Amino acid sequence: PTDAFFRTETFRDDYSFANSEAAIRRFPFPFDRDAYMYAVNIEQHMPGPAKSATEFPIDIDEHYVAEMIDREKVLAEDPLRCQSLPHMITAEWDLLELLMTAMARDYPAWFSLTCDGDRWHWINRPLGLDQRFTFGDTATLPFGPMEYITRQCQGDFCLLDQRQDNLWMDAGLVTTQADWSLDFDLGMNFIEWHGPVPLAHEMGVFERALKFLLNLQLGRPIRRLNWTMTVNPRLDTSPENYHRWGIDRTTVTPENVGDKVHLRVELQALWRLPRSNAIVFSIRCYLIKMREVVSVPKWARRLHRVLRDLPEELADYKGLTNYRATTVDWLSRHDDGAPTSPGF
Ligand code: HEM
Repeated sequence: PTDAFFRTETFRDDYSFANSEAAIRRFPFPFDRDAYMYAVNIEQHMPGPAKSATEFPIDIDEHYVAEMIDREKVLAEDPLRCQSLPHMITAEWDLLELLMTAMARDYPAWFSLTCDGDRWHWINRPLGLDQRFTFGDTATLPFGPMEYITRQCQGDFCLLDQRQDNLWMDAGLVTTQADWSLDFDLGMNFIEWHGPVPLAHEMGVFERALKFLLNLQLGRPIRRLNWTMTVNPRLDTSPENYHRWGIDRTTVTPENVGDKVHLRVELQALWRLPRSNAIVFSIRCYLIKMREVVSVPKWARRLHRVLRDLPEELADYKGLTNYRATTVDWLSRHDDGAPTSPGF
């Protein structure tokens, strides 16, 4: 790392990942009440408070460099984590423009973009990159445009083609996923790739969400939060590597819950893209260990109640069944039973 702001840490092997005090304070805690059920929880992707995870459309934080190194390792082992069908090339350029423009505008100390017609000059200081290229000419970049820029941006990215009143997962770079596979989902539509999710189909959640997304407007991005839990701060919890991390779910004990069990929150944002009419779906993953969660008393109370009362189907789907009881017991010591306020 070229800047002391960025942590040197790992998301595998010795798992040295941790959050600074500032990162804990800005963690996007996902619960607005003491219980959780699926809903169409979509809102406009408007700028949030200064220093919050939603201050800017693309959030770059202290984990940036370490996450990009982890992504490079995943891709070196498994190139199928990045795939794009041939008709998505225009959407790829749209995505490169969206990310470079936002990163250079909101983090000018780290990124810069100069455009002279089609001749673009991109500088990424934290990663030590300086690239001149011709917008629209793939031969002038070391990777395809989607891969080039998403190797330099926190969060997974899916590009959805819109046709036949549906969205099709026709491109993406996915290395920090909560147990789903781009290789498996590539070419599927919105209803198909959501197939494994329990209860939500019957509740009409996906039908309503899809309707909303088909009408997404240029310049009016939206966002939602999703969450699950992960044992050890591992970003790459993929089905492809299940043999490496699945067993971790059996290793939680009352002594190690605080450090091993992590709340995993995804800040998901969606933008309409200008040239391709495709949609980009970003999935920005935030990890926080239980010991860090309970440093904020209102979060401790709320997470305890949410986990304790989570419907069995959701707990199973999220893979919590092995260690839910141990985690709820540990959290209960941090819940004084006081009432909580809605919102926060
Ligand atoms: C889960 C993709 C938009 C709600 C998932 C999964 C994928 C996915 C791959 C995992 C399914 C599995 O188990 O294999 C996407 C993409 C979207 C999108 C690419 C962009 C178009 C939405 C929207 C909603 C939504 C707008 C709004 C309700 C959910 C829910 C789950 C889920 C509730 C289950 C999550 C959990 O319990 O951890 N999504 N999704 N998704 N998605 Fe989406």
